[in-house]
Amino acid sequence: MTGTAELIIDNKRLALPIVVGSEGEVGIDIATLRDKTGCITLDPGYGNTGACKSAITFIDGEKGILQYRGYDIAELAAKSTFVETSYLLIYGELPTAAQLAEFSALLTDNQMLHEGMRFHFEGFPPSAHPMAILSAMINAASSYYPNMVSGKNRQERFPHHAARLVSQVRTIAAFSYRKAHGLPVIYPKSKFKYTENFLHLMFSMPNEDLELNPEIVRALDLIFLLHADHEQNCSTATVRMVASSRANLFASAAAGVCALWGPLHGGANQAVLEMLEEIHREGDDGSKFLTEVKNKTGNRRLMGFGHRVYKNFDPRAVIIKEQCDKVLAQLHKSDPLLDIAKRLEEIALHDDYFISRKLYPNVDFYSGIIMRAIGIPMDMFTVMFAIGRMPGWIANFKEVMEDPDSRIARPRQIYTGPTPRSYVALDGRA
Ligand code: CMC
Repeated sequence: MTGTAELIIDNKRLALPIVVGSEGEVGIDIATLRDKTGCITLDPGYGNTGACKSAITFIDGEKGILQYRGYDIAELAAKSTFVETSYLLIYGELPTAAQLAEFSALLTDNQMLHEGMRFHFEGFPPSAHPMAILSAMINAASSYYPNMVSGKNRQERFPHHAARLVSQVRTIAAFSYRKAHGLPVIYPKSKFKYTENFLHLMFSMPNEDLELNPEIVRALDLIFLLHADHEQNCSTATVRMVASSRANLFASAAAGVCALWGPLHGGANQAVLEMLEEIHREGDDGSKFLTEVKNKTGNRRLMGFGHRVYKNFDPRAVIIKEQCDKVLAQLHKSDPLLDIAKRLEEIALHDDYFISRKLYPNVDFYSGIIMRAIGIPMDMFTVMFAIGRMPGWIANFKEVMEDPDSRIARPRQIYTGPTPRSYVALDGRA
C-alpha cells in the first residue's frame, strides 16, 4: 500500500501520509492532525497507535510470528544463547567471534556491584518484594557512575553502561533473593558464564559452589532469551517514554522494572503459579475455576492466557512448554501444578469463551513451572523476566537516543472533568 489516506472532518478533507514498514505493516501518519484540524485521536491502551518506528523486533500476532532483528525466535531459541541474542538486540547484528568475546569480557568486567551498594540492600525490610529492590537498586547504581548521569560522553560510554546493566541486573536480583532469605551474599565468579553465574549467585554457599546441571542452565538461558524483547509492550514503551526525556539508561530501565511488575504484564508468571496453587489447594480439577472465569466472578482471569498482540498462538509459549516437559523429565520430577496447567489449557482451547476471544496460552503459562522446578521462589519470577528483558529495553533506549527525530513523549487527552467554576469557601460547601 502506498499514497495517502483521506480524513473528512466537518466537510474538510485532510490527506494523511501512509507509512509502510519493512514487513508490510501499514500506519497512517497523523502528526499534522491537530495543527490542521484541532482534533486528536483517542485510543485508550494504545491498541491502534504506533508510537515510534523501530528496527528491533517484529511481531505478527495473527500468524504467531516473533523475530528479533529479522531472526525467528524459534531459530534463536534452538541455536543461540542469551548473551549472543542480547548483543544482536542491542547492536543490530549477530556478533563475530571477536565481538562476542569482547561483549562477554565487558559483562564479566562489570559484574561486580560497587561495594557501597551493600549498604543500600541493608535498608530493605526482609519482606520487601524483589521487584521493589530491583528497580530501586538499578536506579541507585547510576549514582556510582556520574559519567552516565551527566549528558557528556554518554554516547561513547554506552557500551560500558549497557554491559554493566545487563551484567549487574543479575547480581542485584540474586542479592535481593539472598537478602530476603537471610542468606550470606555470594559474589560473581569470572569462571562462570552469564546464566551459570546467576545460578551460582542464587544457590552457591560461601565455601561450596553449586554443582551446575547443564539442562537447568540451558532452560534458564532459554527463558531469558525468550523474554529478551517484545516490541512496544507496557514496560518497553515506559522505557522509551522515560528515555525520551533524556533520562539516563539506568533510570529508564528502573522505570521499565516498575511497569513490568504488574500482574497483567510481567507479574503474570507469579500470578499463574498462585492461581495453579489455589486450584490445587481447593481440590478443583480446574473446571470450577474456569466456570468462575467465564462468569467473570470477581473479575477472575485465566492468568497466562491472552495477549494484546497474539491472536492465534504465542510462539514463545510453544517453545517453553516443550522445555518444561524436558526439565521435569531430567529432574525426575512430576508436578501436580503442571497437570492442572495442561488440563486448563486443554479445556480452554476447546471452549467457546476462549476461542471467540482469541485467548491462547502466553509465555507466562508454563515458565513459572520451570522456574519452580529449578528452585526459584515465586516472588522472583518477575525478576527473571526483568533480567531477560534488559537487552530489549537497552536496545530501545539506544534507538530513542540515536533517533534524530525523537521528541519527548507527551500524549494528549480528552478532558472530561468539570468546566470552569468558582472557588467556594470551606464554610459555604455542602
Ligand atoms: N482470562 C479470561 N478472560 C480474558 C482473559 C483471560 N486471561 N484475557 C482477556 N479476557 C477477556 C476479557 O475479559 C474481555 O472479555 P469481554 O470481551 O467479555 O469483556 C476480552 O477477553 C478482551 O480482553 P481485554 O482485557 O480487552 O484484552 P487486552 O488485550 O486489553 O488484554 C491481557 C491483554 C494480556 C492483559 C489479558 O489477556 C490478560 O489479562 N491476560 C491475563 C494476564 C496475563 O497472562 N498477562 C501476561 C501477558 S504475556 C506477558 C507479557 O508480555 O506481558
